[in-house]
Amino acid sequence: MGAQPRRTVLEASDLRKRFGDIMAVDGLSVSVAEGEVFGLLGPNGAGKSTTINLICGLLAADGGEVRLFGEKVTPGAEVVKRRVGVCPQDIVVWPKLTCLEQLVFTGEMYGMRAAAARRRSDALLAELGLAEKRKKPAAMLSGGMKRRLNFALALVHDPDVVILDEPEAGLDPQSRVMVREYIRAMAARKTVLFTTHNMDEAERVCDRVAIIDRGKLLILDTPDNLKRTAGRKGEGGGTLEDVFIALTGRRLRE
Ligand SMILES: Nc1ncnc2c1ncn2[C@@H]1O[C@H](COP(=O)(O)OP(=O)(O)OP(=O)(O)O)[C@@H](O)[C@H]1O
Ligand SMILES: [Mg+2]
Repeated sequence: MGAQPRRTVLEASDLRKRFGDIMAVDGLSVSVAEGEVFGLLGPNGAGKSTTINLICGLLAADGGEVRLFGEKVTPGAEVVKRRVGVCPQDIVVWPKLTCLEQLVFTGEMYGMRAAAARRRSDALLAELGLAEKRKKPAAMLSGGMKRRLNFALALVHDPDVVILDEPEAGLDPQSRVMVREYIRAMAARKTVLFTTHNMDEAERVCDRVAIIDRGKLLILDTPDNLKRTAGRKGEGGGTLEDVFIALTGRRLRE
């Protein structure tokens, strides 16, 4: 009541991306407000990662546009470099560099001074349970630890917008809770967009979720409203998974 409407940080309008005869993203529009945790859900192949790559300017769109802080995003856009941190679905770490080295290196690449990058890297490694591995090459980490390192790499330069593609994939329950709490805590200061197949996670963490399929937006609302809508239609017991299955069906994606 009486709260100021939050400004839009990220706005994707009528985004389109085709790969051969597949419309991976087909006229998708979403906007994300400052401080919001926004979940992008959808079956395998729905177009989530492609959408993220378009938003980050890693892929050029065939149509539509993305604005971040009002600036148009083009491949390699400066606004992305300055203000966005991305954790890709496929883990990208330098296997031969130690955890600390790659975090400091990444921080410096984003313009941080060496001492600040070092402090921030040490803090992140401690927060993400990697302090003991700080001097170990990434190749020596377990899969879940690599995922946590990947998460740290997205955060090291303290970006305003954090984009995470399945950040909890392959994590144990302890790490999942940590990532979830970390995301919620970040939301006071940052805007978070993330994809997940974990409905429970989405329900607990997201302010709003969009469910997409075949590159199109099916529904966008708060988790509570989505569950109420499903209840009204009598489709299942009203969990987010029920809503998801009701909207996207049971058939596996090929
Ligand atoms: N580089 C590419 N070349 C050709 N087709 C692609 C490419 N990247 C994605 N696609 C296709 O585009 C569609 C959307 O893929 P995308 O990776 O965006 O899905 P997703 O929602 O992230 O799925 P998942 O949940 O499995 O990660 C799929 O049909 C996929 O096969
Ligand atoms: Mg994906």
